Amino acid sequence: MTRRVNGIEVVEQEGTLRATVLAPAKLNLLLAVGAPREDGYHELVTVMQTLDLTDRIDVDIDLWESDAIDVLVEAPGVPGGDTLVTRGVEELLRRIGTGVRVWITIEKEIPVGGGLGGGSSDAATALRTVHELLGAPLEEAQLVEIAASLGSDVPFFLLGPGSTAVATGRGELIEQVEPVPPRPWLLAFPNTHQSTAAVYGAYDPTVSRGLPADADAALRLARARDKRNDLAAAARAASPEVDRLMTAFADAGGEPVVCGSGATVAVPLASHSDRVAFEGVATTAVPGCWLRVAWTTAPATDDIG
Ligand code: C5P
Repeated sequence: MTRRVNGIEVVEQEGTLRATVLAPAKLNLLLAVGAPREDGYHELVTVMQTLDLTDRIDVDIDLWESDAIDVLVEAPGVPGGDTLVTRGVEELLRRIGTGVRVWITIEKEIPVGGGLGGGSSDAATALRTVHELLGAPLEEAQLVEIAASLGSDVPFFLLGPGSTAVATGRGELIEQVEPVPPRPWLLAFPNTHQSTAAVYGAYDPTVSRGLPADADAALRLARARDKRNDLAAAARAASPEVDRLMTAFADAGGEPVVCGSGATVAVPLASHSDRVAFEGVATTAVPGCWLRVAWTTAPATDDIG
């Protein structure tokens, strides 16, 4: 039997619930970073936007009663398996107080370690899906708390595909805003994984231009042609490939931006010939780099209102 639970299509069969959902990547249209705080995290203001580049997540829940919480995650291509997803769903089941078996399979499309938020998105999407399938017993604030404990940008992805938000604090305080119009970007990932902690560690806050005062100021900066990412210098210093891609796209007349802490570089496209030209530029700068066109996404029409 197939039914819809809070917008998720669920197949119920022989005591199992099964759903397939998409976990979107994100782009930071603004990433303004301040000084490190006492807890070691940097205060920041960022505008995050989902893309139509997605991982596919299959969730199976065994409804037969079980004494134990049993979460099995398969994520081919993710070094060490997807521990964020496992930790998140285990914590969810502990808080609900239910012993069930959950199987999750993740088919990766979003590069790992690319600054596109793939791991965080998988964790938030799995958390949201398992929660909805079990009848949504927790308050939203509890889901946000679990998400924030997994990583600073995990709460954003609880909003789901087609979302735009201004995030503050260490990135976990989310204000959802009007979606930006759909627009294509070329993503170039040089297959070199970048450590978020290392890039933040190398960031020099004395060169920061200060944090925008409020969400409106952040959105004005996010709409500017020249996108601001305060981590760009540290990301370029950490990776010669990121540096080469940034230089090559700019020399070719583009306005490239480092995605999060890298190592993906994104450049907006105005036309199909732009796409062909920038793909050539990227391949010359970093032979063999992963290339994909992704669109910023507005919500699906049946999600609005
Ligand atoms: O929150 P998350 O686990 O994704 O952060 C990874 C690392 O990035 C942190 O351990 C910290 O070194 C750095 N970070 C930071 N300031 C932030 C977010 C992340 O310094 N606002």
